[in-house]
Amino acid sequence: MYDYYLGGKDNFEADRVAAEKAMSVVPDARNLARSNREFLVRVVRAMTATGISQFLDLGSGFPTPPNVHEAAPGARVVYVDNDPVVVSHNKALQTGPGVVSVHGDVRDPRSILSDPAVTGAIDFGQPVGILLVAVLHFVTDADRPHDIMRVFRDRMAPGSMLAISHLTSDGTPVTVIQAVREAYAEATAPIVFRTTGEIEALFGGMRLLEPGLVELADWRPELRTTRAVTTVRWLGAVAQRLRHLASDHDADASTVRRVRRLVSAVDRRQRTADR
Ligand SMILES: C[S@@+](CC[C@H](N)C(=O)[O-])C[C@H]1O[C@@H](n2cnc3c(N)ncnc32)[C@H](O)[C@@H]1O
Repeated sequence: MYDYYLGGKDNFEADRVAAEKAMSVVPDARNLARSNREFLVRVVRAMTATGISQFLDLGSGFPTPPNVHEAAPGARVVYVDNDPVVVSHNKALQTGPGVVSVHGDVRDPRSILSDPAVTGAIDFGQPVGILLVAVLHFVTDADRPHDIMRVFRDRMAPGSMLAISHLTSDGTPVTVIQAVREAYAEATAPIVFRTTGEIEALFGGMRLLEPGLVELADWRPELRTTRAVTTVRWLGAVAQRLRHLASDHDADASTVRRVRRLVSAVDRRQRTADR
């Protein structure tokens, strides 16, 4: 359906029927999809600007350009999707060395992270950009999204960055949510609208970069950013794992040791004075 919104050729009759049904309640769905794709590109550029040169794109979708490897030329990119048709399209592209496409399900993060094709392309000892753009709203609460996110976060070296874009129920009319849910239930996976707080919680307390969790078009907009005028609200944010986690920890430990030394020195002086 998403490919159809973007004007791509990689869609089936059932996708087109369901997409038209969704567009009858969200007439601006095409602009929304475009705005999401532009968010993805701006995010990848922001990540490369910090020196990140490897990306794990989870729920990558069809290779409608511009894609991650086009926004970050020369980077190592692993595209992961649970739709075998998407994966074979991405593989057929043969985009060059360092760009890999694998079949994987976000709901099984350990399998993705231990896939030899993933570990062969991504060095998890170095900063990595993890992209969950327009995919977590296909992960229901029953799939335990917080546990999933913890597994990915735990593999992120200091300096790594995480991007999420997600449909929100905040400000989206209930009737529209209901209609979109119905259109998706018939076509792909169930779709989950989350509140702003629920989406922020998926970052697990990581520090959000400016401007925080905002409408996609408001995340570091450029002149040509598509602003969707629509009843559906879609949020995005990027977080960074702090670079000096280990030394912060060491600093905490040394502060504790210094305070303990001071306390016992005071104790000793007190005991001497009491004698
Ligand atoms: C709306 S598209 C987003 C594509 C791309 N990330 C973007 O934002 O432009 C969602 C993609 O996520 C994939 N997907 C849905 N559930 C998934 C899951 N549990 N694991 C991996 N991929 C999933 C779908 O097959 C689809 O290709």
